[in-house]
Amino acid sequence: MKLLLTHIKELLQVRENCPPKLSGKEMKELPTLKNAWVFISHGIIEDYGTMDKMGPHQGFKTLDCSGKTVLPAWCDSHTHIVYAGNREQEFVDRINGLSYQEIAEKGGGIVNSAKKLQQTSEEDLYQQSATRLEEVMCLGTGAIEIKSGYGLTTNAELKMLRVAKKLSEEYPITIKTTFLGAHAIPTEYKGNKDGYLDLLCNEMLPKVAKENLAEYVDIFCEEGYFSVVDMERILSEGKKHKLIPKVHVNQFNSIGGIAAAVKHKALSVDHLEVLTDEDLEALKNTDTMPVALPSCSYFLSIPYTPGRKMIDAGLPLALATDYNPGSTPSGNMNFVIATACIKMRLTPEEAINAATINGAYAMGLSKTHGSITKGKVANLIITKEIPSYGYLPYAFGSDLIDTVIINGKEIS
Ligand code: NIG
Ligand code: FE
Repeated sequence: MKLLLTHIKELLQVRENCPPKLSGKEMKELPTLKNAWVFISHGIIEDYGTMDKMGPHQGFKTLDCSGKTVLPAWCDSHTHIVYAGNREQEFVDRINGLSYQEIAEKGGGIVNSAKKLQQTSEEDLYQQSATRLEEVMCLGTGAIEIKSGYGLTTNAELKMLRVAKKLSEEYPITIKTTFLGAHAIPTEYKGNKDGYLDLLCNEMLPKVAKENLAEYVDIFCEEGYFSVVDMERILSEGKKHKLIPKVHVNQFNSIGGIAAAVKHKALSVDHLEVLTDEDLEALKNTDTMPVALPSCSYFLSIPYTPGRKMIDAGLPLALATDYNPGSTPSGNMNFVIATACIKMRLTPEEAINAATINGAYAMGLSKTHGSITKGKVANLIITKEIPSYGYLPYAFGSDLIDTVIINGKEIS
């Protein structure tokens, strides 16, 4: 129940009063304590300080962190980890020259995953998803958002969200859920998008809300998927059920989704690989968090979200994995941080802030997650012995995690 970490070489992201989010120049600051201790009680960070001023915390289980760095666990605000099977054949098709869009037009992509998921039992889906969740916890993720969107029928969408809910009951990690019924137009509704939108509004959304299965509503606003008009309809309908928008926009094309999402008070707008100056302007001085997904860009060989430009323009930025079977079959936040530094030119400080405080904001978890603050949930990464925190993104292929603590418990 109680745990003391001592002799921490450097404790990162120490904030007595943690701001809800960090924007622009604020993202360059990463406050740390050298030669530090942290005391955890009942899953909460009760106290911390430097070794010369240790509180009366004797007699508890103690971890000697000599040479090690301690930081808040990652807050991964965008994933689709509840899915069935994989799509490595499409990966090979892309190597052989087909584009992501061409594969989707041939019946691959999201509808391919939906077919698999519809044929998978809830128990099997739970087991497959639990394996992924355990994997990302060991990689240092302490809070995660999970979307539906590979069901595309009422039953299958509800099945996905029930699996996510059961995961949150069985595991110590904090889980937030998002209804993404508008992820693709299912095969049965080909040529009848409005019919599917009617089903979403009249049947799926009310059931999701009644069973209290999601806090957020999402839509894939993109050419060939859903338009800005469709997005406005789904977000307005979601609002009637008290669902807050978090949306997929600007992955391949800029079609005006960002300004519309901001107007609907979206908590986050995610992807943004294609970002016009108007899109960037629309995000300024708003409460909407832009979220970049660099391992998706890596895997699909598409442009990276212009994170450097966005931060230089004064915007906040969060980083997440997008873990899913089609565009990002990886939930490794350490790789995301490294890729943000290497490919998007974020500094290590900016990347760590984007993956902790700003990631927590993008899940509505600012008060409880994302920093070393008294009273916040004890979600921590203890690294192996590393020379400095800049080594984390620098040594991008190495496993640098020694121990992960989630809700005050050591994860093995
Ligand atoms: O966030 N872009 C939309 N949805 C997912 C990928 C879906 C898939 O290919 O299965 C994403 O990248
Ligand atoms: Fe996604």
